[in-house]
Amino acid sequence: MPPLRMRRAAVGSLPMVSTGLLAADGIVMRFGRRTALRGVSFSAEPGEIVAVIGPNGAGKTTLLSILAGLQTPTEGRVSHGVREVGWVPQQAAVYRKLSVAENLRLFARLERVDDVDATVMRMLAQTGLADRAGDELGALSGGNQQRVNIAIGLLAGPPVLLLDEPSSSLDPRQREVLWAFVSGLARESATTVVFTTHNVGEAERYADRVLVLADGELLFGGTPAELQAAVAGDGADRDFESAFVRFLHERGH
Ligand SMILES: Nc1ncnc2c1ncn2[C@@H]1O[C@H](COP(=O)(O)OP(=O)(O)O)[C@@H](O)[C@H]1O
Ligand SMILES: [Mg+2]
Repeated sequence: MPPLRMRRAAVGSLPMVSTGLLAADGIVMRFGRRTALRGVSFSAEPGEIVAVIGPNGAGKTTLLSILAGLQTPTEGRVSHGVREVGWVPQQAAVYRKLSVAENLRLFARLERVDDVDATVMRMLAQTGLADRAGDELGALSGGNQQRVNIAIGLLAGPPVLLLDEPSSSLDPRQREVLWAFVSGLARESATTVVFTTHNVGEAERYADRVLVLADGELLFGGTPAELQAAVAGDGADRDFESAFVRFLHERGH
């Protein structure tokens, strides 16, 4: 992990964004004639948990994959290097016939981590999967498979973790475990976490800040309470999900 001041310097060189570990500046993404992102800018501080919410096709996955360095935006810049970001895709790229430890070892080699054995041991301990290390990955529950998927994203010890729909395949109890783990990471290692979700209740509960993306446009960035307050009318007692739907509707989505 590069020294903090190097990352700060990289962020500081971007105009129009406040300092923060993670910054995106004016991201535009076009696929042929389709525009998936229309000038998205935001920044996130170390240890902050940010949820990206919005309708299907809003550009959430595209934004995360650009932050992860997997796609180059048509316009705009991100503040950090690919090596500083851990990526947890919606579809895990794991090998179901290999054991948990074998998967971690394989990806640790691909990531070129310094000490593969020590890293695998650390990730097994951190994800609470040490006792399942020798089990075939495909035999694990969805919740435990998702833990391995996240562990792979964390192998290189990145300061930023990006998760695309991390809870979509999990039952409520597995979700609790996932968010306890992710919240712990943000709190204890000051990891900056950005995740997408369809479950807006989850965004309200676990995110410090939500970004609302619709049709490639960033419509809102603020706390869940601020989003509720931004909805016009008599909705003081409106729950977050209906406030979110109302917000989108008021802005023509
Ligand atoms: N590789 C691609 N080629 C063409 N269009 C794409 C590609 N990736 C995404 N899109 C389009 O960009 C828009 C945003 O997609 P996506 O980021 O997957 O949305 P979300 O994750 O919010 O559902 C959609 O209209 C989608 O069809
Ligand atoms: Mg998506």
